[in-house]
Amino acid sequence: MRRAVELGDAVLGTTSPNPSVGCVVVREGRIVGEGATRPPGGPHAEVVALERAGAAARNAELYVTLEPHAHHGRTPPCTAAIVAAGVRAAHVAILDPNPAVAGRGVAQLRAAGVAVRVGDGGREAAWLHEAYLKHRRTGRPFVTAKFAATLDGKIAAASGDSRWVAGAEARAWAHECRTKIDAIMCGVQTILLDDPQLTARPGGTPAKRQPLRIVADSRGRTPPDAKVLGPGGPTLIATTAAAAEGWRAGIERTGAEVRVLPSDAGGRVDLAALLRLLGERDVLSLLVEGGGVLHASLFVAGLVDKVQAIIAPKIVGGSAYPAVAGEGVARMADAVSLHEVETQRLGDDVVIVGYVHASEEWAQG
Ligand SMILES: NC(=O)c1ccc[n+]([C@@H]2O[C@H](COP(=O)([O-])OP(=O)(O)OC[C@H]3O[C@@H](n4cnc5c(N)ncnc54)[C@H](OP(=O)(O)O)[C@@H]3O)[C@@H](O)[C@H]2O)c1
Repeated sequence: MRRAVELGDAVLGTTSPNPSVGCVVVREGRIVGEGATRPPGGPHAEVVALERAGAAARNAELYVTLEPHAHHGRTPPCTAAIVAAGVRAAHVAILDPNPAVAGRGVAQLRAAGVAVRVGDGGREAAWLHEAYLKHRRTGRPFVTAKFAATLDGKIAAASGDSRWVAGAEARAWAHECRTKIDAIMCGVQTILLDDPQLTARPGGTPAKRQPLRIVADSRGRTPPDAKVLGPGGPTLIATTAAAAEGWRAGIERTGAEVRVLPSDAGGRVDLAALLRLLGERDVLSLLVEGGGVLHASLFVAGLVDKVQAIIAPKIVGGSAYPAVAGEGVARMADAVSLHEVETQRLGDDVVIVGYVHASEEWAQG
């Protein structure tokens, strides 16, 4: 199952709105076929793996990270392909909460005489499919708040200069992360101070598939020559009725989409409404790359699922540009404590990744 998870992870970000499933076919202790979901419209992981296995799939065991689907969608049911190939046993890491699948895939396999075991590698598969699971259960994307901060929690120096907080290795890692998500967002202040492209450039080269770029800009302050409106991918500016018509027309002339959303109590873009909109558009995962003011709103509204923090061994001092702004909590006991925390060293920086909710909550929805 570990190999199946690896295969799924390698195609994360290319299969949306389908889950990035990995599948391995094993016969007599040897892998005879393996595969991962192809981009939308292409075959699912089970079909790829079974085709590779060919006749060797007969009486083999199949390992798959997510319950095979039992219905006719864009592709024929995977359960039928498993039965037709003569697979003896199927190991399914997790069930699919999609109402069209939800236990039916497993039931169909069992009815056809395939021995099914559910749960092996369930934890790893739940991580792999975290965005898909969240989207299917709530209709909203899985939200990751990401920042690079100094030891004293600053994401920029006093002037707003933030190039660079993190070292080259951590920045390269951040670009890899951008290839695995459907959309990326920042606040308008970051556009004004930093003018980022918000594209995925792993190894310094633009990725083939770029995430949807989103700017939260309540009053229409994004300049029409901002890099985020330039080449590199689709862009959506989320604004409110407070933005001027003339500004909107100017942005739309660049080819970007402007979406007027309700405003929250503070007159800013209602982020819950934005997430609902993105969910309806089949955006499964959203990476929010700051700044601290936007992060604060997301945390206060309880909309963050995961945190990716790069901590650089630098000190800026002062009080400007914290990783998470706002009023903060009054007591340490009320701080957001991450779960399932993992750390890694990248050059001199440390990356800390963790979930805002305990695994029982996010895995079960
Ligand atoms: N090191 C890093 O990882 C990193 C990452 C990103 C940015 N930065 C740095 O951070 C600095 C900017 O950060 P910042 O915290 O000042 O600003 P920010 O979070 O980038 O932008 C905040 C602005 O977004 C707009 N916005 C729209 N809807 C919002 C909502 N619901 N909640 C909150 N804001 C909303 C607001 O302006 P309106 O009211 O006009 O809409 C708000 O003032 C820059 O210096 C940038 O270089 C560093």
